[in-house]
Amino acid sequence: MVAERVKGLKYAIRDVVLPAKKLEAKGHEIIKLNIGDPDQYDFDTPQHIKQAACDAIMGGKNYYGDSQGDAPILGSIRAWDKRVNGSEADDYCITQGASEGVEFSFSALVEPGAEALVPGPNYPQYMSVPRLCDGVPVEYACAEGDGWQPDVDDVRKKISGKTRVMVVINPNNPTGAVYSKKMLQSLIDVAGEHSLPLVSDEIYNLMTFQESVSLSSLVKDTPVITLNGISKNYLSPGWRIGSMAFRNCPEIFEACLALGRNRLCVNEPCAWGFKAALDGPQAHIEETKKKLIERRDFVVKRFGEMGVHCVEPKAAFYAFPRIDTGDDKQWVLDLLHQEHVLVVHGSGFGEYGKGHFRLVFLPPIEVLSEALDRIERFVKNK
Ligand SMILES: Cc1ncc(COP(=O)(O)O)c(C=O)c1O
Repeated sequence: MVAERVKGLKYAIRDVVLPAKKLEAKGHEIIKLNIGDPDQYDFDTPQHIKQAACDAIMGGKNYYGDSQGDAPILGSIRAWDKRVNGSEADDYCITQGASEGVEFSFSALVEPGAEALVPGPNYPQYMSVPRLCDGVPVEYACAEGDGWQPDVDDVRKKISGKTRVMVVINPNNPTGAVYSKKMLQSLIDVAGEHSLPLVSDEIYNLMTFQESVSLSSLVKDTPVITLNGISKNYLSPGWRIGSMAFRNCPEIFEACLALGRNRLCVNEPCAWGFKAALDGPQAHIEETKKKLIERRDFVVKRFGEMGVHCVEPKAAFYAFPRIDTGDDKQWVLDLLHQEHVLVVHGSGFGEYGKGHFRLVFLPPIEVLSEALDRIERFVKNK
């Protein structure tokens, strides 16, 4: 009954919640460090953004919006891109989260049997969506020994006659890596040599603890689609609003517009909230980063003290420590059952994630401290 392409569909970050729910049903309290949702912890959507969405509802903006995005909202996305990224794309459209941008990009580019070059480790959608398009995700290595930077030689090796698109996730989930200008330039050069369009996922671009640049600001004539959204930078993941910026790829843009028309529009009131987020005060960004840096430092120090190797994340809110096991999923399940701490197995982020786990360091230090005490006890008893 069920189509082959859907069988075995996985999303590790939420799949691990199922066994956790069973434990909760038995009365156990679980410390959940699996999902990158700041609003589940002590972060909240800034007031002026909430107000703008409420005003949109009360002001009657409850109609179907334009499929591409209403003109004033697109204007704010363009102005923000110019101001924040130093980049101006040819065209923009609004999406239901960056997730829909991923779906649109691959739907537009991946023919059955075609290959999508994606970073390893990667955010799980980058493995599942190419497969849903009957294509094949091919992972290029990001080297842990090099702070999880892409291995450009491996990128070259993985390109074949079937490759149709190359994905860069910068800043990166799950590793927290930020790529240098030089690295981005090398990736652009490789894409250019093979006439490959780039998809640059920059959903964490304001949650960085060191300098970072937008890939799009560096390209001359290489086609690039940049994905972003309200979820992380503006602490509103439940709103499901994102954006796509298109440079040097008018045909892909037209294809994405057609896909957009097929799903009518995004959540219209929240789209107006997105406009307020882009135009309005940005004070929450420094406040959020201050908390994140403190929490990142605490987590990295604790892993160091317990002898667990963990590359220091330079952005976002994920640590990706290495564990000494052949079966990281079982390790994560054992940790859950024995210590009631929920993290995500590294293999859920692709082949290169194996032997690791991803921990979200969004909670306050007291919660992280308790979780890390439990992880330390678990590691010592192994
Ligand atoms: C790298 C990356 N891309 C895309 C997404 C999806 O973001 P959105 O909430 O905008 O759909 C996430 C969410 O965690 C992510 O980490």
